[in-house]
Formats: sequence, C-alpha cells, structure tokens
Amino acid sequence: MEEEMKEEVGDNHSQLNMEGALIARDRVGVQDFVLLDSHTSEAAFLDNLRKRYRENLIYTYIGTLLVSVNPYKELGIYSIKQMEIYQGVNFFELPPHIYAIADNAYRVMCTEYNNHFILISGESGAGKTEASKKILQYYAVTCPTTEQLQIVRDRLLLSNPVLEAFGNAKTLRNDNSSRFGKYMDIQFDFKGAPVGGHILSYLIEKSRVVHQNPGERNFHIFYQLLESGEDDLLRWLGLEPNPQKYMYLIQGRCAKVSSINDKSEWKTVRKAFSVIDFTETDIEHLFGVIASVLHLGNIQYEEDSNGHAIITNGSQIKWISKLLGVHLSILQEALTHRKIEARSEEVLSPLNLDLAFYARDAAAKAIYGRTFTWLVNKINGSLANKDLTRKTVIGLLDIYGFEVFDTNSFEQFCINYCNEKLQQLLIEMTLKAEQEEYELEGIEWEPIPYFNNKIICDLVEEKHKGIISILDEECLRPGEATDLSFLEKLEEKVGDHAHFLTRKLADQKTRKSIDWVDFRLLHYAGEVTYCVVGFLEKNNDLLYRNLKEVLCKSKNGIIKECFFPSELDNRRRPETVATQFKNSLASLIEILMSKEPSYIRCIKPNDGKESGKFDDVLIRHQVKYLGLMEHLRVRRAGFAYRRKYELFLQRYKSLCPATWPHWHGSASEGVECLIKHIGYKPEEYKLGRTKIFIRFPRTLFATEDAFEYSKHLLVTRIQARYKGCLGKREYKKQREAAIKLEACWRGALARKEAKRRMWAAETIKKFIKGFISRKNPLCPENDEFVRFVQYTYLTKLRDHVPKNVLDKNWLKPPAILEETSEMLKKICMRNLVRKYCQGITAEKKAQLQQKVIASAIFRGKKDGYLQSINQPFADTRLSERDINPKVLQLIRGEKVKYVTPVVKYDRNGFKARERQLVLTQSAAYVVEMAKIKQKIDYATLKGISISNLSDGLLAIHVPEDNKQKGDAILQCEHIFETVTKLCMLANKQNAVKVVQGSLQFHISSGKEGTIAFTTGQEPQIYKAKNGHLTVVSARIKS
Ligand SMILES: Nc1ncnc2c1ncn2[C@@H]1O[C@H](COP(=O)(O)OP(=O)(O)O)[C@@H](O)[C@H]1O
Ligand SMILES: [Mg+2]
Repeated sequence: MEEEMKEEVGDNHSQLNMEGALIARDRVGVQDFVLLDSHTSEAAFLDNLRKRYRENLIYTYIGTLLVSVNPYKELGIYSIKQMEIYQGVNFFELPPHIYAIADNAYRVMCTEYNNHFILISGESGAGKTEASKKILQYYAVTCPTTEQLQIVRDRLLLSNPVLEAFGNAKTLRNDNSSRFGKYMDIQFDFKGAPVGGHILSYLIEKSRVVHQNPGERNFHIFYQLLESGEDDLLRWLGLEPNPQKYMYLIQGRCAKVSSINDKSEWKTVRKAFSVIDFTETDIEHLFGVIASVLHLGNIQYEEDSNGHAIITNGSQIKWISKLLGVHLSILQEALTHRKIEARSEEVLSPLNLDLAFYARDAAAKAIYGRTFTWLVNKINGSLANKDLTRKTVIGLLDIYGFEVFDTNSFEQFCINYCNEKLQQLLIEMTLKAEQEEYELEGIEWEPIPYFNNKIICDLVEEKHKGIISILDEECLRPGEATDLSFLEKLEEKVGDHAHFLTRKLADQKTRKSIDWVDFRLLHYAGEVTYCVVGFLEKNNDLLYRNLKEVLCKSKNGIIKECFFPSELDNRRRPETVATQFKNSLASLIEILMSKEPSYIRCIKPNDGKESGKFDDVLIRHQVKYLGLMEHLRVRRAGFAYRRKYELFLQRYKSLCPATWPHWHGSASEGVECLIKHIGYKPEEYKLGRTKIFIRFPRTLFATEDAFEYSKHLLVTRIQARYKGCLGKREYKKQREAAIKLEACWRGALARKEAKRRMWAAETIKKFIKGFISRKNPLCPENDEFVRFVQYTYLTKLRDHVPKNVLDKNWLKPPAILEETSEMLKKICMRNLVRKYCQGITAEKKAQLQQKVIASAIFRGKKDGYLQSINQPFADTRLSERDINPKVLQLIRGEKVKYVTPVVKYDRNGFKARERQLVLTQSAAYVVEMAKIKQKIDYATLKGISISNLSDGLLAIHVPEDNKQKGDAILQCEHIFETVTKLCMLANKQNAVKVVQGSLQFHISSGKEGTIAFTTGQEPQIYKAKNGHLTVVSARIKS
C-alpha cells in the first residue's frame, strides 16, 4: 500500500488521482474494479485482486464499496500520518483505503446531518473485526475533540478489548473470532465530535463456555485471568494459574496459542476497566462470576446406589457459594435436584448423572451469558451521552461471519442465518434497490440478474413454515420431542425446498456426505451441513427453576442484577433462543434500513491464516457468493451518485445566480437550470422523476469543489451580516447605556440645579428680608444683607474710583454707607490731588499758569479754544537764531521771550506781509528781516482785540499818537498762545477784548478801519469791496 502511494503520487497527496493510478495498473491492477476492461469476467476480477494482493494492496473499490482481503500481516498502513492523508479528501482521489470509507461516511454525515452505518461482512477470519477497529481508531484520531470528550474517545476505544476478552475466542477459522454480534453506534454532536456511543450485542455463543471443539478455545478472558491474574486475586478466587486444571478450558487442547498474547491483553483489559467506570466491587464481582464458571466446570458427579447424582468433591462448590454469595447447601441441592411442580405442589426430584451434568452446564452458560449482557449494559452506561441535543450516528456492524466447520451445530445455524439476513439487506439496499430505483425514476436500464437469497431467509424464518418455527414447535409441544423428531418434521414440512436437504431427501451421490442426524442448507455462501443434535436443548436454553432461585438470591452484585425473582413468577415460557435471535435481527435490520449505508466486503485469502497465500478457489467462491460481480455490473452500468432534486438543489444552489438564494419553481427545474449553468455534459447525468443521477464521481467532485469555493464567498456574506447584527446589538447596548448615563447625569444635574435654586430662593428670601430690614439696627435678619451691600459697594467702588482729579464721578453709596462713602471720597480726592501735585514739574507749572490765564481770557468766548486746551504752549515758535542779528542788536539789553511768525495786514490796503512778532519783557516788535517795523511798548499797549470765531486775527491797539504807526493787524497761527504770552508779558490780562461781527481799529493819522468777521466754508482773509478786511473762519464742528 505504501509502495502504491509512492508510485502513484510521490509525497504530495493532493496530486493523487485515479489517472495516476492507471499508470501503475499493469503491475498493481486497478484500484476500482469499475475501471476493469472486461468487467463481466470473473477471471479478470480475480486477476486484479491477486495482482494487488501480491503488492500488499489489500483494498480495492467497486465504486464506493470497499473490498478488503485479509493480509494476515502488519502492513504499516494504519499510521496517524495515513489517517491525516485521508482526512477530508475526496473519495476517489486517493488509493482505496478503509479510512476513505470511514472519512466519506463521516463527511456526508457532517454535511447532510444524517445517520450512517458501515456494514462489514465476510466470513469468519476475513478481517471484519479488525476493520471495525481501524474505523473506530480513525474517528478517535481524526475527529475534532475537546478535553472533556477525550474520555468518551478513550471509552469508545477501550470498550473493544473488554468485549473481545469476554466475547471472542480462538476457533479453527480465526484466533480471535467474535462469538457475538456487535453493532456499535458512535454518536457525534453537530460539530462532528464523538460524544457517546451505544452497543447492541447479539447472541453470544454460550455453548463455548462448557464445550470447545478440538483446536478451539473458550473465551479469552478465562485464559487471561489464569495466565496473568495477580496472585492475590487468584488466591481470593480460589484459582490456580494453570488452565490445564479446568475442565472447561482443556477440551480443545490448545490453551496456549502463540498468536495470542494473553498477558498483554490482560493488561489492556485491566486498564480498560478503570476507564469505563468499573468500581473495585464491580471487578471483584465480575471475576467472582468468571471463577465460579471455572469452578462449576470442575464439579464432578457420581452415581449413588439409587442412580442419583451426587457431587464428589466439595471444594468447588464451596468456592462458588463464596464467590456468588449463595447458600452452600441450597446450591448443592440445586445442582443435584430438580424442582417439579405437580399441581400446586412442589416436589424435589433427584437428578441422574446426565441431567446433573446438564444442570451444571446450563448454570455455567446462563451465568456467563447474562454476565456478558450485563457487561455490555455497563459499557453502554459509560458511553452514554446524557445531553439531549440532537446527534447523528455512524453505526459499525461487525457480526460473526459465515462459518462452516466439520460439525456445525445450532450456533452455526444462527450465525449463518444472520449472514443470510445481512446479505439480504445488502441486496435490498444495493442491487435490488438500485435497479428498482432506475426503473422508478424512469431511467433507461437493462436489468442485471443476481441471486436473491430471500428464498433462503424465508426458509429459515418464515412464520409457521420456516425452520425456526418448526424448531420452536418441536421444543414447545407436549410429548417426547427429540432432535430427531425435529429432523423428521423438517423433512416433512420443508423437504421440498430447493435449498434444503437431508440424507433421506438426497440423491445417491450426495447421500454419503450427509449423516442421518444432519440436514443441509444451501446458503448463498455455500452449503452447510448441520447436525441436529443439541438443537432442541440449545433452543430451549433451559435453566432449572431451583438453580434460578438460588441465583436470584445471590449476593454477587452482577448475578443479582442478572437474575430477577420476577422471572420465577412468570409462568409463560420464555421465548426460545432462535426466536429471540430472529426478532433481534429483524430490529437490527430496521435500524440499518433507516441509515445511509457504506459497505466493506472482507475476503479471506486462505484457510491457513497465512500471509501472502492467495487461494484462487476459496476466493473465487467468496467473490461469487458476496455478489461482487453483480455489484460491479450494476455499478458499471449505473450512476455513481444520485440525489433527490430538493437536496441537490439545496446543497448546490449557490452555484447559479438563478437558483440563489431562492428558486421559486419546482426543484427539478431548478436542478436543470443549475446544471445547465455549471455546464454538465449530456453523458454525465440523467434526470429521473425525483432525482438527478450523476454518472461519474469526477463530475460530482468538480461540483463539490466549486461549492467549496463558493462557500467562502457565502461565509463572508454571512459573516458580514452577522457582524452587522453584532454591531447593531452592541450599538443598541451602548445607546441604552448612554441614555441611562445621560438620565443619571441629567438627574444629578437637575438635583444640583434644584439645590442651587433652593439655595438661591433661600438667599433671595434672606436678601429680601435683609432689604426690608436694612434700615434697622444690625440684627441677624439684616446682618448678612448689610454686609453684602457693604461688600458689594466697596468692591464695586474699588473698580470705579476716579482716576484723576477732574473725574467727578463717584459711585452712589447705599444709605448705610453714605458717611463712609463721603469719607472715602475725600480720602480718594486728597490722594488724587496729592498724586497729581507730585507729578507737576516747574515747566508744567509754568505751562499751567499760562493755561490758567488763557482760560480766563478765552474760555467760552472764542471758538476753537476748547480744542486748543490740549495743545501745550510752546516756549517760542522761532528761536533767537531765526531773528536777524541786526534786530537782536537793536533790542539788545532786552530779553527775547517769545518769537512767532505772523502775517501783518497793511493798515491801508490790507496787504498781507510776513513778519516776525518778537516779544521781550518790555515790548513787542513787529520785525521784517533786519528792520523793526513797529515797536509796541507794553506800557503804551491799549488793548488787544480778537474775534469770537476761530480765526487767528488779532489787533493790537496802541495810543493815537503820531509816532505810533497805528494799531497792528496780525494774523498768527497759535492765536491763543501768542495772545496769552503777550498779555502775560505785558501784564495786561484784562486788555483783551473779544468782539463779534466786526471791530474798528485805528489807522495812523486818526483814521479808522473795519474788520468784519464771518464764517464760511474755507478760512479766508481778503479786502471786501466795502473796504473792510473780511475774515472768514471755518465753521468749527462741535
Ligand atoms: N487489516 C489487517 N491487517 C493485518 N492483519 C489482519 C487484518 N485484518 C485481519 N487480520 C488478521 O486476521 C485475523 C482475523 O481477523 P478478524 O478481524 O478477527 O476476522 P473476523 O472478525 O472477520 O472473523 C486477525 O486476528 C488478524 O491477525
Ligand atoms: Mg470478528
């Protein structure tokens, strides 16, 4: 197998494909029989199987069915690495493997959320049990699991060695032959994790407990216990570590077998007990039962003089009484007597030797058989998953395979009947169902003939007519019924059946091979001759009533749970073994029919358990009866895959825009539209009435791959939606939180505000009260108000104190502070005055004196005065340097005090002449360059006239004296300054006269002139037509 892997794929398993396998097919055959050229040839089939077997390729497909040939050696193809390779890979992309079957069932279960079963069939020793173990291991390793589920996994795995120890034995066919049928459900949760399990067991071969054919053993557990049981334990059980000492273990004469390692198995079993919830008491009781069985086997009888059986050796029975906790003498009596009910009376009748041995063995079988059932229940208890969520299951059916021995008894009859039933199921579910389906779906189809074994099933199980019914009838009828009378009945009732034969019915040739006590059945898998001896007894499975009574009273926990007193009260005969088995098989088939099947067909390559030996005859026989050729033919002609339109559409509808997300027409139309869109070719599919049939796996795989890809897109969309939802939810939460916070905050604010208002109201109230009583003497009521008034007034005053001495504003005080205010005002004023005085220099003082005088002269009299106040007076407008030195020479001895340029108007013609006006301490001079044009002694100065308008004209009046040139008419820029200086120097403040309208002035030689003052747009001075000097002043905006 490993080699095949290497050959076909190298290391990269993703490249594995069927085509790759074709290259190697000459040597290793084809990995799917469907690919065989001559698919109808049995020889070609066998040839392919042989080629592969030789290359250690034990697995081959027929479509999805797996054919497995027992290699009888370790192949190293079950490693974890191998499991990983097969995990989640499309079925046909890798070489055939049991893991592919397991994985496929698992994937389909996960995606379609349905139940499955894997039917493993084949004759005894073909590898069924091994296969089921491999599958279980595969799930244990590859399925997702959690720490909690780890224990479930271990229990699932470890339930096997326990059941095998108690239910498997060495037979001639198989050293580890399952002597019970087992159907195990593995339960998975929606995530695909194994979460529990349940086991159904079928008909354990109890007769093996008391009898084994040569070359066979009893159940493994006996040998394991004796071989490896701890000394203490054995001593406690009263056992010796030697199987040869026990009658029940030595009949096959092969207690020791090289292929069986009882020691290591024992260890596994012991470990398993602890994992699957066995208490110390459980284990004690369980081995008590096992030991009791061995002791029972060693009980020997002899005949007394009356021909009654008596027990020869008392030690065994003592051990049994101890281990099972039953009364010694009652047990002894039960093993040698039989209670018979004669009318309402109970009579104890002693047993003869044969019946005593029968009673002993019946007890051993009943004890062992029921303990096995208890064990299965116990394991089920530990595998049970208690939560009620829906689970899907994969069932593993590993049931005893078809077997033929030299002597075949009731057990083989049951086992082979069971195999008939399973074959029937397979036919029903594959060959028959498949062909019927094509017909039903209206798919063109040429029927393929196959052998339907229903006829054999009917022969065995049909009501009233079948072998089981006849057997039951014989068991139950009154009178002397024996195995031989049963055989006669068979001949009588089913003698003419094509699959039934006895010596009497057989022809000359075959007669020799059938004994007088035999009947032969032509099973689907071949003919088996059964010896009827023991049939009745085994079918009745009778345990004497007094033995039952003893066991009911047992103190051993297990036995107590296995034998109920109610059983004794039930007068009805219990169902016979064959009928019980028939019913349990019927319900098993029902269970299986409700699930999706996968099949593994196991083939035994030779009878010698030898590796590498390919026995053509044996294998051809199995190929034939397993119906593999028919299966192949149906497969070849048929379709690899089919699905109901609804399901197909549901799964793949996202691949076509027209069907996604909803298709509103019928499902079949939807599928048609879908496959047209993804481009199926006509030969690749057929459309049935309710289903689509796809011929090749590759078509489906391509679709599945496309789906896989589209899933990612869908997922992103769903994710986005989901995230949107989450976001919205989060937003809502936050919004609610914010609203809550806001409400709280608003509440807090409102409370604060209310408090503030309360306080305010309180304060206002107090304030008003204070206000009302403010004039009363200081008392608590007005105290605060008064203080407040004082405080506010004073603080306000602080910001409103006058900034200079001229500022006469003063904050009006409240009544109570009037006095204080007055005082403060004074202090403040004084302070301001002081500060002001401190800030005055000599210059400023002189300035101020001048300004004071100017104020006296002009205030309220001449326009422009107010505007001029701010302009400080200059000391002089021209310096001495501007005066001609000659002039300076002339006025030498006088100190020049003030010089300013002026315009002089002639007295006669009013011509304007630029002149300088020089003021000394004693006289004013009108100077033109180097000439003094006029000197006016202050002493002679008669007056100065100016207008009330804003002009700069002044007339300096002098006495009418010849020497004098007359009054000087001057115009100067700084009239207020110049006039003030003149007045001050002349010390004639009162000499200034402010005139309105006009003034008369004196021209020399006694003549007078007139100057008229008016206002106008522009200042102007000119001689008017009337001969007056007209002075126009600009109107001053005030
Ligand atoms: N896949 C396998 N690889 C190696 N040996 C196998 C394999 N299958 C079966 N065997 C051998 O064949 C024996 C019988 O197989 P088993 O599964 O017990 O048969 P069945 O249950 O069909 O009677 C096993 O004990 C084992 O030695
Ligand atoms: Mg088996």
